[in-house]
Amino acid sequence: MLEEWLRANMAVWDELTGVHAASTFYDVEGFKRGAETLTSIELEELGPDVGEGTRLLHLQCHFGLDTLSWARRGASVTGIDFSEEAVGLARRLADEVGLSSRARFLRSNVYDLPDVLEGEFDVVFTSWGVLTWLGDLRRWAQVAAHYVRPGGTFYIAEFHPLAFILDDAARPDDLRLGYPYFQGPEPQRFDEPGSYADPDAATRNTVTYEWNHPLGEVVTRLIEAGLEIEHLHEFPFTHGLAFAYLEKGADGWQRIPGREEDYPLSFSVRARRPAG
Ligand SMILES: C[S@@+](CC[C@H](N)C(=O)[O-])C[C@H]1O[C@@H](n2cnc3c(N)ncnc32)[C@H](O)[C@@H]1O
Repeated sequence: MLEEWLRANMAVWDELTGVHAASTFYDVEGFKRGAETLTSIELEELGPDVGEGTRLLHLQCHFGLDTLSWARRGASVTGIDFSEEAVGLARRLADEVGLSSRARFLRSNVYDLPDVLEGEFDVVFTSWGVLTWLGDLRRWAQVAAHYVRPGGTFYIAEFHPLAFILDDAARPDDLRLGYPYFQGPEPQRFDEPGSYADPDAATRNTVTYEWNHPLGEVVTRLIEAGLEIEHLHEFPFTHGLAFAYLEKGADGWQRIPGREEDYPLSFSVRARRPAG
């Protein structure tokens, strides 16, 4: 029998797939016309490594827009996600935009991926809203490192844990702490309708179980898994978070008004598996 956290989170993501596919936030029609979905962070930091024939594994790929964006740059991509709905939609989109010959999508819990996927990849990529769903970063890092070929690259761009400890209802001139930084092994249980992509969506599956991970834990788990860290960058802007203290600028990034440079809201880690 599935553990309650896994059952609840999967039900939410299966339902959110349809909500997101219809949202202006994800703009699926724009993607079909050729719009880029990757952010400037991963394009600048990882883009130069991805080209014709790069074997790229995307962990927690949702319904595949970012995965397919890498495929549009020539990569041969494998996207994995535990949501059957998301993986099904990703496959249909790959067909529709003519990328199915170099894009495959598998349904798997990230922890169990070695049971269903063999092989190694030049790049293992994951981004934006992935770690909060994972209680066991040790296992996550082992799985990620397992798929990086010797000399290959692991890359993550993600929300900064600081963004998840501020009270999300606070105004920019009255920032307050709302959640623990050192959360420990027990998940936080949230019961909220809607989604960051469509806060007014009348969703039926509303309970999620989530973990906020200190930055030190993320980096340490990757090192323990045998990866060599090349950079850890922090950015005072983010995107796609429905928090009251954030304001979206003309460049599409969200910042804290009046505190534009003061606090980290996103981070990226690039790591390499030692060659040979
Ligand atoms: C916020 S989305 C990733 C977002 C992605 N960057 C995007 O915007 O398309 C998180 C994804 O993680 C997946 N997920 C959550 N927990 C998972 C797990 N344990 N194993 C595999 N996928 C998981 C969800 O199904 C969801 O598609």
